Amino acid sequence: MPIPVRPFGSTGLELPILGLGAMDTPHSPAAVETVATAIQLGIRFIDTARDYEGSEHLLGRVIRERGAPGAVFASKTFRRTAASAQYDIDRSLQVLGLETIDLYQLHDVSTPEAWAHVMAPGGALEGLRTAAERGAIRFIGLSTHSLDIGRLAIDSGAFDALMLEYSAFYPDSRHLLDLAADRGVAVIVMRPLGGSGRTSAIRGLLARGQAGILTPANLLRYVWTHPAVSVAIPGARYPDRVRANVSAAEAFTPMSTAEQQELEAAAARLYD
Ligand SMILES: NC(=O)c1ccc[n+]([C@@H]2O[C@H](COP(=O)([O-])OP(=O)(O)OC[C@H]3O[C@@H](n4cnc5c(N)ncnc54)[C@H](OP(=O)(O)O)[C@@H]3O)[C@@H](O)[C@H]2O)c1
Repeated sequence: MPIPVRPFGSTGLELPILGLGAMDTPHSPAAVETVATAIQLGIRFIDTARDYEGSEHLLGRVIRERGAPGAVFASKTFRRTAASAQYDIDRSLQVLGLETIDLYQLHDVSTPEAWAHVMAPGGALEGLRTAAERGAIRFIGLSTHSLDIGRLAIDSGAFDALMLEYSAFYPDSRHLLDLAADRGVAVIVMRPLGGSGRTSAIRGLLARGQAGILTPANLLRYVWTHPAVSVAIPGARYPDRVRANVSAAEAFTPMSTAEQQELEAAAARLYD
C-alpha cells in the first residue's frame, strides 16, 4: 500500500501524510542516507529552516548528489522584517540549489510582539509576498507554539499553511485544526512523536517490552486520525526510523475516540 495522500490546504498540492522534519538530521553519521531513504520511500514533504544548523546544506547536498524528484521543500526564517526575510530566502535558494522553494514559513511566531512585527508594513510577511511575486517561493506559511497566534494566522487569510505542535502528548491544538480545515489552510504537524526526549524514553520502554500502546506508530496514527492534518513531520537521524514511519503511514487506519483517549492517558503516564 502506498502512503495515503491528502490535499495540502488550498494550494492544489496533494501530498503523502508522512513528511520528514530535517531539524536534527544533519547531526548524524547517516544524514545523507536518512534523507535519501525518505525520498526513495515516497516521502515528499521535507521541512528545514535557516536556523537548523547544517540542515539546508544537507538537503542541498542530497538534491545535488542524489536528486529529489517530486519532493516539496519547506524552509523558514526567523527574520522579522521584509528586507531581512528576503535575504534569508535568497540564502536558502543558494544553499538548497533550487530556483523556487515550495513553502517558506515565518519561524516560531509565538508572541503577540513577534506577530505584530511580521504583520506590520515592512514586516517579514511583506518580504515573503514579494519573494512569491518574483517566483522565489510558491507558498507562504507560519510556524507557532501559540494557539492564540495560530488562530490569528488562520483568521488573517495570509497563510497557505500553518505549522503546529499536535500529538497525544499535546492534544490541545485539536480545535485549531478544524478551523484551519474550514479555511483551507494546510496543517503541518511538528513534534508528532512528542520530541526527542520522550521518544528516547519510549525506545527504552520498547527495548524492555514495556511500551504497551505507546509506540511511535500509534503516536503517528493518532495525529493522522485528525482529517485536517495535511502532513506530519517526525524528525529522524537514521534511515531505520524513516522506514518504520513509512510502514506506519502505509498501514494507517484512523483511531477510534476511545483508542485516542487511551493513548493520551498512556502519554500522560510516560514519566510516572
Ligand atoms: N517551527 C518550529 O518552531 C519547530 C519546532 C520543533 C520542531 N519543528 C519541526 O518538527 C520536526 C519534528 O520535531 P522533533 O524532531 O522535535 O520531534 P518529533 O518528530 O516528535 O521526535 C523526533 C524524535 O523521534 C525519534 N524518532 C523518529 N521516528 C522514530 C521511530 N520510528 N522510532 C523511534 N524513534 C523515532 C527521532 O530519533 P532520531 O533523531 O534518533 O532518529 C527523534 O529523536 C523537526 O524536525 C522540525 O522540522 C519545528
